[in-house]
Parts: sequence; structure tokens; C-alpha cells
Amino acid sequence: MPRELPPTAGLPLRVTDLLPGRAPFAERVAHWLGVEHLQLECSGTAAMVVALRAMHRLRPQRDEVVVPAWTCPLVALAIHRAGLKPRLCDLAANHFDMDTAQLASVVGEQTLAIVPTHLAGRVADVNAALDVAHQTGAYVLEDAAQALGATQDGRSVGLLGDAGFFSLAVGKGLTLFEGGLLLARDTVMRDAFAASHRTTIQSDAGMDWKRALELIGYAIAYRPSLLPLAYGRPLRKALAEHDPVAAVGDDFGPDIPLHTVSSWRQAVGARALPRLPDLLDVTRNQALRRVERVRRIPGISVFDDAPGQRGVWPFLLLTLPSEAIRDDALRTLWTAGLGVSRLFIHALPDYAYLRDIVPDTPLPNARNFAARSLTITNSPWLDDATFEAICAELERAVRGR
Ligand SMILES: Cc1ncc(COP(=O)(O)O)c(C=O)c1O
Repeated sequence: MPRELPPTAGLPLRVTDLLPGRAPFAERVAHWLGVEHLQLECSGTAAMVVALRAMHRLRPQRDEVVVPAWTCPLVALAIHRAGLKPRLCDLAANHFDMDTAQLASVVGEQTLAIVPTHLAGRVADVNAALDVAHQTGAYVLEDAAQALGATQDGRSVGLLGDAGFFSLAVGKGLTLFEGGLLLARDTVMRDAFAASHRTTIQSDAGMDWKRALELIGYAIAYRPSLLPLAYGRPLRKALAEHDPVAAVGDDFGPDIPLHTVSSWRQAVGARALPRLPDLLDVTRNQALRRVERVRRIPGISVFDDAPGQRGVWPFLLLTLPSEAIRDDALRTLWTAGLGVSRLFIHALPDYAYLRDIVPDTPLPNARNFAARSLTITNSPWLDDATFEAICAELERAVRGR
């Protein structure tokens, strides 16, 4: 029977999670994270729209949002939807963090917020953003979409700056199929987020049904025996059509749903939540061993935690020595059903559908990172022997034979 591994370590749902009911989902997640309050939104993107509108109301003369040039395209769409302008900062060399020198030069009087981004579960350099923000009066909004459960010095990410958000989309560990959680450090910002929610978000029975069915579909299909159909087939079709953007699901339209989350979906999340810490422990132990293994391959970098950081591990993020080597490795691995994939295909200006939204500036490091990076799932379904086979293929590609 064909098997397919997911590209990230999501938390599988159980039938009993899907029973009818109500539960205070955001409160329970807040309790687990040790944060005072979380505001539930229908996606990470919606959380960002709500947050940016609130910040803009507090500082209406500022209209630019500084983001890393290699990030989720939804970030640019959220900024646009909030009526603001994305301003791109190139990455540091061979890193997903923003280049600090460039950050200092793009942030100014017009900057509403800087968005350090905790990619791949790793903790971003929020202090660099805070330094620049303090000099210019900008807010720091942490994009922790991929990092629910990650901490720095024992504190949840998302509160190192002024505010942050998590995503609960498919593939992000805990999922409501789509969902987002917003958090703010002080009560002024928290109240502003609540007010922004009231004016931005409406209930939508049609979307409640759609997301409920999608969540049930996830509960059924998120297993290696059914993922060939739900994930592998569309992936292979998109790659056969030379459409890597569609293959990784980066093909977003301008429409951003902005609606409430039904109490049933909240109850499903609340029932699954107690299993999340175990998944994070299992995937962490697995990842730490595997990072060591990947490190032994010459020329490959793999992202890890610095002292004081304790990230989460949905997948391993790697860079290879060159685009040619990365593409050589992916030629077999991407379609092999082993959970090897890419994160964002392009630097933001290189998505055709963002052309009118993001400025096209020279971004050598972001483009280089897009060209040389790949991801390996950290799903517990990837066994050690298969992981070793992936490493052997990476070694072959690096050797060039
Ligand atoms: C870094 C980053 N930011 C923002 C988002 C948007 O989150 P959502 O998909 O929940 O709207 C994502 C989602 O993939 C992401 O990876």
C-alpha cells in the first residue's frame, strides 16, 4: 500500500475530538503557554490583519510594515489588506533572520511595525528588531505562525516584542484546519486588538460549515495511508506542471477570510491540546538527533536553537551549498513521499501575484536562501531508516555523483 509522509509534524486528530461540545479553547492554550490572554482569530493571516489595524489606529501617521523578504506570501497580503505597505528587509547571509544593518536602514519614521519571524519553529532574533524599534517608535509584531510552543529564556515567543501571533493552519502542529491566536504584552494593545476584532471580524455560517468539513477531512486523511490522495497527488501534479508555488501551497489569492471561529471547532482544538506537549517532546528529541546527523554532511547547514532558546520542530530547515545541488537532491526526494519539500519558493517580489503589492528591490540573500533551502519533515512517521536514506541522497547530491 502506498504511503506518504506529511511535510510537517502535525498533531493527528481522534474521532473523539470531533464530538459536539463547547470549550474555552484560547483560554486553555494561554494557560498552557503561561501567557495572560490569547485572542482567537480565523487564521494567522486574519490575526495579522486585526493586529496591524489596531496598531495603525494607535499610530495613524505610520503606514509601513517591515518584514523579512523571504517569508510566507500571506504576510504581504495581510499587510495590504490592513491598508498598509510592506517594506522588505533582506535576510542575513545564510540565515532566515533579517540582516541587522539593512533593518536599521529600512526602518524609520514611517514604520508602523517590524515583523521578526520565527520560521520552522526556530526562535528569531527579536532583540535586533527591538533595538531598531526603540530608536524609531515602531512596534514589534512577532510572526510566530510556525512556532506555537517555542520559548526564549522560558517565556513564550510572541511576547518578546509588543505583540505576536500563532497559526493553527494545517501542518502547524495543533490545527483547527485554519486558525490564529493573537497575543499582546500590555493591556492597551490587548484592548486595541479586541476593538479591532469587533470592527473587522464577522460571523459567517457558510465559512463555519466549510471549515468544519475541512477539519473532519483532516481528521480522516492525516495518516500515511491516505496522504497519497490528500497531499501527494496534488503535489506531484503541480510539480509535473512545473508549478512549485502550487506544489507547496503558496498559491494564495487576494481574498482573506475574516470571520469568527465556531464553538465546535474550538472544542475540537481544546480536546486535542492536551496531546500537543507530548508531540512537541517526541519531535524535539527526534529532531535533536537528526540535526546532529545532518550536520555531518559537508556543506549543509541546518537550523538549531541558540542557548536560551527552545524552539519547536515541525520540520528541519536546511540550506545546501548551491541551487544546483539542492535541485539535484529534490529531483528524487520531493516526489518520493518522504516528507521532503521546500518552504517558501521565492523571495516575496518573485511571486507573480504579489507584484503590485511588494516593491522589487535587490534581495540577494533572500533569493539565495529561497534557491538553496529545503525541508525534511519531522513527523514521527518518518522512521530512522528512511531518514538515513534521505541523508544518503543529500550526501550523494553534495558529492555530485
Ligand atoms: C511565517 C508565516 N506567517 C504567516 C502565516 C499565515 O498563517 P495562516 O496560514 O494561519 O493564515 C504563515 C502560514 O503558513 C506562515 O508560515
